[in-house]
Amino acid sequence: MFRRIYLDNSATTPVDPRVVEAMMPYLTEQFGNASSIHYFGQQAKSAVDKARHQVAHLIGSRPNEIVFTSGGTESNNLAIKGILDNSPPNSHIITSAIEHSAVANVCDDLEKHGYRVTLLPVYEDGIVRLEDLKAAITDDTVLISIMTANNEIGTLQPVEEIGKFVKDLRADGRKIWFHTDAVQAAGKVPINVEEIGCDLLSISAHKLYAPKGVGALYIRRGVRLHPQNIGGHQERDRRGGTESVPNIVAFGRACELAAEQMATESSDLRKLRDGLESRVGEMIPDIVFNGDRDRRLPNISNISFRSVEGEGLLINLDMQGIAVSTGSACSSGTLEPSPVIRALGSQTLSSAAGDDDEDRARGAIRFSLGRTNTAADIERLLEVLPTSVENLRKLSPGKTVATK
Ligand SMILES: Cc1ncc(COP(=O)(O)O)c(C=O)c1O
Repeated sequence: MFRRIYLDNSATTPVDPRVVEAMMPYLTEQFGNASSIHYFGQQAKSAVDKARHQVAHLIGSRPNEIVFTSGGTESNNLAIKGILDNSPPNSHIITSAIEHSAVANVCDDLEKHGYRVTLLPVYEDGIVRLEDLKAAITDDTVLISIMTANNEIGTLQPVEEIGKFVKDLRADGRKIWFHTDAVQAAGKVPINVEEIGCDLLSISAHKLYAPKGVGALYIRRGVRLHPQNIGGHQERDRRGGTESVPNIVAFGRACELAAEQMATESSDLRKLRDGLESRVGEMIPDIVFNGDRDRRLPNISNISFRSVEGEGLLINLDMQGIAVSTGSACSSGTLEPSPVIRALGSQTLSSAAGDDDEDRARGAIRFSLGRTNTAADIERLLEVLPTSVENLRKLSPGKTVATK
């Protein structure tokens, strides 16, 4: 049986054994409900409080600005809908063309309910421009939601510039808020909510070597959100529902580890990733590296293999024990090329470039590295990738590609 190699850490990460160790007691002896007044409840409550400090520390916030949620999707929903529920009915939202579906589909839904949404374009580098944001602001704009780092190509967005711009607008008396989805960025690059100047920031535990089903929303002190999970008075009335104490403890410990290890881990991952890219560039012709090569997360590489169907390559690699991902969603049997790769350069491409653009989106593969990957994993990938690409290209109708 071959060794399986996991290069899909942006989809999710394995739970770190140190995180498992921290959460275990809260599944067994220390099982209390954090809202109970008795000893068991108080034990659970102090564990949740500790985790709140650990999460806050990772993003430079105050602990009481952290609300625990069920994950990144809920954090984004709470941020966006929570603000809009407190805003006039036809308010305007500005977001980008490359947001994760947990923001993009929320905005689509709000549009159906009468809100107006502007999607900022990205350029060839996969980054939004402040000038476009400035031009999109209207008198009705109440929320700007721009991700800190993109999940498919890893590009870092100019969140600090946006934060400063929003602060200046507020200083002029505008009621306008800035949310950023930092689900992919947290733990990979330093995040500080004060430096970003955001009002709301989403994170998710399972991208950080903690379990699935827990996340957090940072809510700047003074920002009023309408709760979306209405029930008990947990999370100071901002999110009803019994806290998942073991998951929260795990999340806290994972944030603590991320804060301790980020500098060395990110530099190691960057070296591995850059090595992978330069070797792929030497070995395989007709490829495109998607997104800015500098302003991006250290662990993501997104490469389009021209004249290759990304899903086919994914399956081919999987059969050889290597897990990667495509940006595309396979729904109802149709393969939809990645909207993120399609959006790259949509500002500059002429209509004649359409085919080329489509081919690039269809052939995009995301390699996302993580804590458990080694140089041997990359070597193994490089043993199989060139042949897989070559074989798929031979099957691709009407395309001739030089071999290298
Ligand atoms: C950028 C981004 N936002 C939000 C999410 C959703 O997070 P969760 O899976 O915790 O709901 C993801 C997950 O892939 C993501 O990459």
